[in-house]
Amino acid sequence: MKEALIAENLCKHYGKGNTSVVALDSVSLTLRAGEVVALLGPSGAGKSTLLTALGLIRAPDSGRIVIGGQTVFENGYRTDPALFRRKHLGFVFQRANLLPFLTAEENVRLPMELDGIGARASAARARELIESFGLANRRDNLPSELSGGQQQRVAIARALANRPELIFADEPTAALDSALGRLVMEMLRDVAHEHQAAVLVVTHDTRALDVFDRVLKMEDGRICKTENDRPCSLS
Ligand SMILES: Nc1ncnc2c1ncn2[C@@H]1O[C@H](COP(=O)(O)OP(=O)(O)O)[C@@H](O)[C@H]1O
Ligand SMILES: [Mg+2]
Repeated sequence: MKEALIAENLCKHYGKGNTSVVALDSVSLTLRAGEVVALLGPSGAGKSTLLTALGLIRAPDSGRIVIGGQTVFENGYRTDPALFRRKHLGFVFQRANLLPFLTAEENVRLPMELDGIGARASAARARELIESFGLANRRDNLPSELSGGQQQRVAIARALANRPELIFADEPTAALDSALGRLVMEMLRDVAHEHQAAVLVVTHDTRALDVFDRVLKMEDGRICKTENDRPCSLS
């Protein structure tokens, strides 16, 4: 399988002096196109910090990030993050974060329009995505008129709008009940497999781990690995 992302020796600390915290302690990982990978670990392990570093939201202190063969971060060098994110990356967060004054369809269209895609093409793709998530009859509704699970599906559709090669999800099911949470995880898996995107999902929900191709575990700013890349333990 093709490598979608290679991260090498990422380090990141917050604060100074005796209040300094090491959030990433030389983290290296590879994500391949078409795989869905879970990232587990206790609160404070550095999971969100890792996601924001890989997603070019907050730069690490050092290390190297290669996405789709292109070096996007290396000590002292960083590609234009906003542009790169819009073209290559998708994000799903714990809360859907839809714009409240836009309909479901308009929310999905927004990243395409920011990327200069015309109204007709963006509307067609938005409808297709919304339909594929079973929300065809909801596309003209405002977020406040949708359930939490429906909002999260719209958020996933939005993350897919620009056909990203990589999707990062930070606890996307934390606000959902377990059945809906599982459905959302399965959707993320289908997205990886069908769109050949690499999907990295931070989760506390150990009930849906069978959905993932691989499970990584983080602790104290490091990814613990065993020989076959399975987690050291699943607690
Ligand atoms: N903006 C910040 N300023 C200072 N410390 C932070 C900040 N963000 C995270 N941290 C610290 O870095 C460590 C890793 O946090 P985080 O990446 O949020 O972990 P996780 O997502 O696994 O809970 C924790 O000790 C946390 O307190
Ligand atoms: Mg977190």
